[in-house]
Amino acid sequence: MRPHNLIENAPLQNLSTMATPAAARYLVEATDTGEAKAALAWAQEEGLPVQVVGGGSNLIFCDDFPGLVLHMALKGRHWTAMQGDCATLVLAAGENWHRAVLYAAAAGYRGIENLALIPGTAGAAPVQNIGAYGVELSDTFVSLSAWDRQLGEEVVLTTEDCRFGYRDSLFKHEPERYLILEIRLALSRSRPWSLGYGELSQWFEGEAPSSPTAVAEAVMAVRRRKLPDPAQLPNTGSFFKNPVVSQEQWESLQRQWPEMVAYPLDDGVKLAAGWLIDQCGWKGYRNRTVGVHHRQALVLVNHSSGTGADVLALARRIRDDVRERYGVTLEMEPGVVPSGCGLTPPA
Ligand code: EPU
Repeated sequence: MRPHNLIENAPLQNLSTMATPAAARYLVEATDTGEAKAALAWAQEEGLPVQVVGGGSNLIFCDDFPGLVLHMALKGRHWTAMQGDCATLVLAAGENWHRAVLYAAAAGYRGIENLALIPGTAGAAPVQNIGAYGVELSDTFVSLSAWDRQLGEEVVLTTEDCRFGYRDSLFKHEPERYLILEIRLALSRSRPWSLGYGELSQWFEGEAPSSPTAVAEAVMAVRRRKLPDPAQLPNTGSFFKNPVVSQEQWESLQRQWPEMVAYPLDDGVKLAAGWLIDQCGWKGYRNRTVGVHHRQALVLVNHSSGTGADVLALARRIRDDVRERYGVTLEMEPGVVPSGCGLTPPA
């Protein structure tokens, strides 16, 4: 059945924080699970491709979308399983992530305060396993409910099912299958703080924070120093992932560039993509429409009516430069819609 709230030829610019122009053949804003499932069923009947959108802070529209864009605006948050110091926070997919962080912190619960000010929605958070300042969503994640489009039923997926990695999860590998409806996080009033990240440890100078809100506020201040607010200057946060190279490649890179910034992992070494891009001279670059942020080279920004093609053209030049100089291929963090228009493989 045709959804009652269907919009035809809907502009998409305001549904992505990069604010590139595009239109959807159809758009539905779902405010409850019934509306979301009904819209999916209709798209299936009509044979239309579907693109799910949350806060739009990790995708770039490059062209018109020939199917249904399903904007997840389901709201609701509550606590469950409150026992001693622990409680589970339940968030509907459309809840604003940052507001949820402040809500949990104000209640005295720890676990996600380092993830303050990350734009986007709760339902999008597991997709790329959002992370910042030494904490990832997977650290507190318990499970989520999703509509399994393949099985045609609601399923519960645990941390193990979600196969979380660095900016990675099951949902990146099976993008068409699950519609995330609700997520559950295990928080605690007494869990240890995570203050190992340089700028955070400097902030607290060895003193224990007074509350999770104090940590969230420190994170907000640190982020505001170098990350542009998408509401003021359209961007999608880190544009590239920090690349992981083998120990062997790292040793050879380090011999040539002893000052290269990197973090050891159990299995390889993670390089700071921002440093690589900065060293190639891109920080602060701008052309007529798009550019590279002047305080964080990992963030591409849309200065003035840049299109998806403008953003991708710049991204390609940066990726090719870094590859030529360091032999490391950067991978994009945000998704590209429609899916066919991503960065062309390196020559
Ligand atoms: N650096 C430079 N020049 C730059 C940017 C960075 O030399 O222009 C150097 C910094 O001096 C630092 C290193 O690179 O030594 C790393 O920079 P930073 O601490 O700013 O973190 P990042 O690796 O660039 C990652 C996440 C961010 C997250 C921060 C803090 C990724 C792709 N990005 O950035 O996440 O906020 O760490 O934990 O992992 C996002 O995903 O959108 C995002 C903002």
